[in-house]
Amino acid sequence: MAAKDSRNPVPGHVAIIMDGNGRWASRRGLPRLRGHKAGATRVKEIVRACPDKNIRHLTLFAFSTENWRRARTEVAGLMALFRRHLRTEADELHDNGVRVRFIGERDRLNPKLVALMEGLEARTRDNDRLHLTIALNYGARSEIARAAQRLAAAVARGELDAAEIGPDHLAAHLETADLPDPDLVIRTSGETRLSNFLPWQAAYAEYAFTPVLWPDFSPAHLADLLLEFGSRERRFGAVVT
Ligand code: FPP
Repeated sequence: MAAKDSRNPVPGHVAIIMDGNGRWASRRGLPRLRGHKAGATRVKEIVRACPDKNIRHLTLFAFSTENWRRARTEVAGLMALFRRHLRTEADELHDNGVRVRFIGERDRLNPKLVALMEGLEARTRDNDRLHLTIALNYGARSEIARAAQRLAAAVARGELDAAEIGPDHLAAHLETADLPDPDLVIRTSGETRLSNFLPWQAAYAEYAFTPVLWPDFSPAHLADLLLEFGSRERRFGAVVT
């Protein structure tokens, strides 16, 4: 069967691995945290730019389960930055119709940060202009393992037949169960890895790797990548005739 229209001018869901903050800072002789601060300013601009570009879903990789291995001061600085931004940006996000959600494991995060996250999720839950998902202490392999645990528990309770488990069951137990799959995954800073970010969900996504460091990544850079995405042919495994 041929796909009807394989051209997809606008990616409804863009997911971004925001990389290069550290290099941006060290090239300027600044501490790494200054790069993260500059990166946070970019987050604000990119979030603001999405609705006009018809992006309905934006998912950002803010902190991975592997990032705890960084220097304690950098981790503490990043956590303080998240707290500050959630506090200062809450009103603007809500007023602009942004629904904010978080994925990732919350138990290792500071309870004050978790309270801010949950407060923002509750406050913005009815918004629909842009769905912003922030991956914070997120790692895909443990997300998938947790989904498998839940399915195994359902089998053990006799609620599910193991032989019936398929991709839809697994997807329904991921933290992204309510979200569409990403259409476009962007990674800044020239690295070409997925780094444990949404591999299941992005199985059919297009990928864009740009050498631009995240603190330099502007809405104009995003517009260029969207234009390039629009010219790609997506087949989802089908033959286009
Ligand atoms: C990767 O750059 C970036 C991070 C680990 C942190 C991302 C966080 C922000 C952009 C801050 C604000 C986010 C929100 C949601 C308010 P890197 O440090 O790995 O850069 P490097 O590879 O050059 O060292």
